[in-house]
Amino acid sequence: MPQKLAAGNWKMNGQAADLAEIEALLPAVQAARCEVLICPPATLIDRMRRAAGSAPLAIGGQDCHAAKSGAHTGDISAAMLKDAGASHVILGHSERRQDHGETNASVRTKASAAIAEGLVAVVCVGETLAEREANRTLDVVGGQLSGSVPDGISAEMLVIAYEPVWAIGTGLTPTLDQIGEVHDALRAALAGRFGAEAGSAIRLLYGGSVKPDNAVEIFGVSNVDGALVGGASLKAKDFGAIIAALGTAG
Ligand code: PGA
Repeated sequence: MPQKLAAGNWKMNGQAADLAEIEALLPAVQAARCEVLICPPATLIDRMRRAAGSAPLAIGGQDCHAAKSGAHTGDISAAMLKDAGASHVILGHSERRQDHGETNASVRTKASAAIAEGLVAVVCVGETLAEREANRTLDVVGGQLSGSVPDGISAEMLVIAYEPVWAIGTGLTPTLDQIGEVHDALRAALAGRFGAEAGSAIRLLYGGSVKPDNAVEIFGVSNVDGALVGGASLKAKDFGAIIAALGTAG
């Protein structure tokens, strides 16, 4: 059984004053019976790392460029994230796919670059509402998984987040059966590609409107190894409750 992971995605939110939320979260992190990761905007990585002190809080980026350095104005490389104190990076979030035209191929190249720097790649997949309504969810998510994940990975290098686009920031969530169906399919695809051992050890997170009041039931779904949490990760009280819920999940 892989160690479960509670991951927060602050998106384009947070300034120095918001580090007070991290200080408030530290007791929950210290007591956590799972790994805890927060991916703040890159401007806060270093300060969040310092605010975490010796607490077991991993810090991650939200994207990286595939190149190590060079003439790419506004971009940040995996090496820079690592240098700033990150251990993880979210890649291929649907907001990046939509707002920046990221493709499976570009996400895969970024994931290779991140892994080469020793970062854990948190690769996101998920269908739109139109794709779900057309019964294409498993095809879409399976295609994103195979296209976005590089070859030759081992379980500690990779986390997959299943995030239905229509559930992100909307307060809507799939049914528990729908989450289970996708997570089972992702698990089978990973085992088929990387072998049973690695396939069963790669963490599969659910993301999309995870809140303290639905976390327990979502964490009870088979093959859900944690969550990628947006809005509810901004407040220590909510994210702390989600961390606690994950720690008690079977
Ligand atoms: P949400 O976002 O929890 O605010 O729905 C999740 C995500 O996009 O990672």
